[in-house]
Amino acid sequence: MARFVIEGGAPLRGSTRVPGDKSIGHRALIFGALAEGRSVVTGLSGGLDNRATAQIFTDLGARIALDGDRAEIEGVGLDGLRIPAGALDCGNSGTTMRLVAGVLAGQRFGTRLVGDESLSRRPMMRIIGPLRARGAHISGVKGAKEGELYPPLAVAPLIDDEALIALEYRSPVASAQVKSCLLLSGLWARGLTAIAEPTISRDHTERMMRALGVPLQTMGPMMVLDPTGWDRRWGGFTWEVPGDLSSAAFVLAAALMVEGSEVTVEGVGINPTRTGFVDAMRAMRASLDVRPTGEGAGGEPRGDLSAAHGPLSAAMSAGELLTRMIDEVPIFAAVATRARGRSDVRDAEELRVKESDRIETTVALLEAFGADCTELDDGLHVHGGARLRGAVVDSRGDHRVAMTAAVLGMAAEGRTVVEDVACVRTSFPGFAALFEGLGAQIREEEEG
Ligand code: S3P
Repeated sequence: MARFVIEGGAPLRGSTRVPGDKSIGHRALIFGALAEGRSVVTGLSGGLDNRATAQIFTDLGARIALDGDRAEIEGVGLDGLRIPAGALDCGNSGTTMRLVAGVLAGQRFGTRLVGDESLSRRPMMRIIGPLRARGAHISGVKGAKEGELYPPLAVAPLIDDEALIALEYRSPVASAQVKSCLLLSGLWARGLTAIAEPTISRDHTERMMRALGVPLQTMGPMMVLDPTGWDRRWGGFTWEVPGDLSSAAFVLAAALMVEGSEVTVEGVGINPTRTGFVDAMRAMRASLDVRPTGEGAGGEPRGDLSAAHGPLSAAMSAGELLTRMIDEVPIFAAVATRARGRSDVRDAEELRVKESDRIETTVALLEAFGADCTELDDGLHVHGGARLRGAVVDSRGDHRVAMTAAVLGMAAEGRTVVEDVACVRTSFPGFAALFEGLGAQIREEEEG
């Protein structure tokens, strides 16, 4: 089992780049596989989650040559997917499973979607319900919660004159995975797909659809895909995926927390539906600059981000801000340990159904380092200022918990060991080497 060993207190200095955005990478691979012609996608994360999506579309008949951060894709068009030889393996990736389910719902062949142990505990009724409402034959298995369904998912084919029908759906959760699943299923539907969400979640799918000429209109948190009169095709494209802000957040956070640090992360995606962490750090009065540098893949803005250590004040994240930093809550809580006063996270019940129960795992992690925090049903309180001491902690198989633990270790006194860190490869391959390059005292060890 792999682990990180960290000596705290070493300042981070210099410029770096982080692996490509995982969310954008999944979508670029999907739209490339569904294009008519050849696409080239560069800047991919190289992580296991994006690889799972690439492998699934290979199994479904697209030709995808994945080499490091670059993919060359021969797309098969909307009507060219073919029956795979076996079950489609989503690994640890909830985004893969939920988005691919939207694609499979409209097919005339049956499929099965499977995932690892953590993914098999994640709720799927949020996509199964609305997909069934538009005529898809999709089911999951019963599990921990009454009325909920979990992976593996079975999608039976549409037969004879069956087709997906129009859907008007008001999502109870602000979830880009749910929204994207339904929009993708809309590509095979005979009527329109209208979706409203409580606050705007990441809008990468919408941006790419518009860039490719899919007839989608968006009005704040509402959108309509109306295929009437559309020829249901787009050609190949060349896209460069920006760096992942959700990964850059760990580098920036470490610089804010460790005395003497000053870092720049170049070429990071700064789509406003993703920049909640930056806004939250500014609310903490952090020294954090964003310099926009242009637009890349499918209308995605990018920029260079610089952070320097300095005094921080407590801040609150809830509502719309929370949606825009949903994956950054563990690292936000870690930074809050260094801020003056009580920082709060609210409206974050969704965190309980991520790769781990991230409210529980974050609170346990912070406490292991000596921080003062309280678990709430929908979030947590962090009382800043407690002394952080190096600890021996476990990732619980969650990549963002593992990386938050590593950053806490960099800010803490003494030695930290983070056990079970292989999961970091799902989103941030090369994590330890990148931090070492900036001056952190971190090494990855294979144990036993
Ligand atoms: C993602 C959406 C979010 C996020 C996940 C990636 C996506 O999940 O947490 O890491 O790429 O659509 P939810 O849609 O469940 O909020």
